[in-house]
Amino acid sequence: MKEQLTALKHEALAAIAGAEDLQSLEALRVRFLGKKGELTAILKQMGGLSAEERPVIGQMANALSEKLTGAIAARREALEAVALDAQLVREKLDITIPGTREAVGKQHVMRKTLDEALDIFIGLGFSIAEGPEVELAVNVFDKLNTPDAHPSRDWSDTFYFDRDSEYVLRTQTSPVQVRVMENQKPPIRVVSPGRVYRKDEVDATHSPMFHQIEGLVVDKGITMADLKGTLNALVEQLYGVGTATRFRPHHFPFTEPSCEVDCQCFKCRGKGCPMCKGEGWIELLGAGMVHPNVLRNCGIDPEVYTGFAFGIGLDRMTMMRYNISDLRLIFENDLRFLRQF
Ligand code: PHE
Repeated sequence: MKEQLTALKHEALAAIAGAEDLQSLEALRVRFLGKKGELTAILKQMGGLSAEERPVIGQMANALSEKLTGAIAARREALEAVALDAQLVREKLDITIPGTREAVGKQHVMRKTLDEALDIFIGLGFSIAEGPEVELAVNVFDKLNTPDAHPSRDWSDTFYFDRDSEYVLRTQTSPVQVRVMENQKPPIRVVSPGRVYRKDEVDATHSPMFHQIEGLVVDKGITMADLKGTLNALVEQLYGVGTATRFRPHHFPFTEPSCEVDCQCFKCRGKGCPMCKGEGWIELLGAGMVHPNVLRNCGIDPEVYTGFAFGIGLDRMTMMRYNISDLRLIFENDLRFLRQF
């Protein structure tokens, strides 16, 4: 049996040293040291040994078992190290290669002005209402008390969609007033921002597409003082406490009385400067008390309710706020320009 053990030792050690991967190493462990392995098979024959021989062979077998276990562990470590090296090479990350820069966008300057204005109105208790850009001519003109012969209805001023003049690209955000009043009972307090369209040639102050913020408040006992207070709150938050507003008489078909509202020039505080062209005032919006006919057209009793409405030109407001001299810059989307804001 001694010879058997010695032969096993040489064979096993050679095989273990030659194992090329972890699987074949595990197979060798099972083959030599497993329950049905070769060492166990030899030990099973120990019953036939004499009392003197048995402890000697027993010791030899234990020593061999330990030796093989150690050899397998050492080989495993070596093979694992090789595998790890290979993995490191395979998954190597070269941190010296320049990374790809993520382009982080930012808000368009118009959006910024709009968000500032909407924040102020939301703070005053307004909610936001939206309406379609392709709108019924009835909502844009008729229900807003616009006479049949009014120039704004002209095909040379307005983009019509069909021969019957049923649909137009809205020329103002005021038709949202109609949609809100037809769907909601007073008290009403909404602002409605959006694009509007008119047949204008493009120049430094005109564009066939521009932006407005419509405002509408309808309730019992609403007066022009509420309009003044609301607009003062707006300009004071935009341009600083104490910034005054001035109402000039004007005409709109859908308000009576109507006015244009100027805000004290925030550059010179009313003294007169290039910003306000020496006027001391800058035109901000059109406004007025909602015409009783408009209330009636939308199912609201003008004997019970009154309201005010206004329409802010958002593009002009953006130009003033950020000192932009040409409206076209806002729409051309040249990143060199937009990145400034
Ligand atoms: N819709 C008007 C315009 O486009 C502005 C306005 C709105 C005036 C609401 C009065 C009331 O000029």
